[in-house]
Amino acid sequence: MAVYQATTSAPVNIACIKYWGKRDTKLILPTNSSLSVTLDQDHLRSTTTSRADPSFSKDRLWLNGKEEEIKEGGRTATCIKEMKSLRKQVEDANPNEPKLSTYPVHICSRNNFPTAAGLASSAAGFAALVSSLAALYALPASPSQLSLISRQGSGSACRSLFGGFVAWEMGTAADGSDSYAVEVAPQSHWPEIHALICVVSDDKKGTSSTAGMQRTVETSPLLQHRIKHVVPERMKAIKEAILAKDFDTFAKITMQDSNQFHAVALDTDPPIFYMNDVSRAIIALIVEYNRLSVENGGKVKAAYTYDAGPNAVIYTPKENLKEIIPLILKYFPQAEKYNDHLGLFGTASVDG
Ligand code: ADP
Ligand code: DP6
Ligand code: CO
Repeated sequence: MAVYQATTSAPVNIACIKYWGKRDTKLILPTNSSLSVTLDQDHLRSTTTSRADPSFSKDRLWLNGKEEEIKEGGRTATCIKEMKSLRKQVEDANPNEPKLSTYPVHICSRNNFPTAAGLASSAAGFAALVSSLAALYALPASPSQLSLISRQGSGSACRSLFGGFVAWEMGTAADGSDSYAVEVAPQSHWPEIHALICVVSDDKKGTSSTAGMQRTVETSPLLQHRIKHVVPERMKAIKEAILAKDFDTFAKITMQDSNQFHAVALDTDPPIFYMNDVSRAIIALIVEYNRLSVENGGKVKAAYTYDAGPNAVIYTPKENLKEIIPLILKYFPQAEKYNDHLGLFGTASVDG
């Protein structure tokens, strides 16, 4: 008896222009376009195995060893359904293909980094889920097609199907058919850019991204200003900066957009706080580091950004890591250093 099983992995991506807000919660259509960098580090990935078998009684999912319910009509169910229907097209065109689209699937996924802690586990998770099913079903689907499906699992997941610098164009179609990710530039275009991950806390966040952004859409006047008057210009400017390898502009826009996203979270009723004192101390450190450089006639050397959680991601040209890592270790002596990844559990203060 043949075994139909495939394992793939997908990395996280961390946005420079943040997605925060849906205009359609079922299809996961955003209120603004966004742009991110996909991290190629081995230690921030979801690895997912999918298996199809006629003896299974239903579709099931295990996340980090624990079974998660697949809710009918929910996001995971939608991704599985869409992937089965692509498989059905292959079977209809080739009658000799086994009818895998009719078999239930068991999906088993593991994240090698904190889940639901603001390090984009939903992005890596749904990108890995969709790509493992694409491998299981031997689909000829393009990354953009898979992006469109993973978007319906978690919006940010649509960007993890591509490496390098990736835009999620919000689109205008009511059915979401033009809302998917596209590559702005491959990683090889600007390989000097590195991401330093500072794990401030691996606790599960108090407000999920899904619930948080919904509350923002319903209550924040600042969000309306952001989506109409701020993001469109920023999207254009950051793409130009990436293509020109202009780190100064890339960094300034990235930090401004992180700040505005957290301002919009604060503008939500009741307010949402994703950063903590350590997050803010790291901002102060990077601001000071850049100020000293610019004062001495140099350029902006590093950009901080925070997703919906307290953990910092610092984008910087590789040459600066040898300054930034010791700097952070000096102010956060309790930090543990892994490769290009710092664990900063606990608190510390840094004065400007
Ligand atoms: P994060 O900041 O980590 O993306 P979110 O609140 O956006 O946090 O999403 C977390 C949720 O994403 C988890 O509770 C789980 O439902 C889903 N998720 C995370 N990892 C995976 C995975 N590997 N496979 C499937 N779903 C996942
Ligand atoms: C702050 O993609 O996790 O990380 O679509 O509801 O699953 P859902 O939300 P999610 O939101 C990500 C928000 C963010 C910014 C970003 O990644 O662009
Ligand atoms: Co998420």
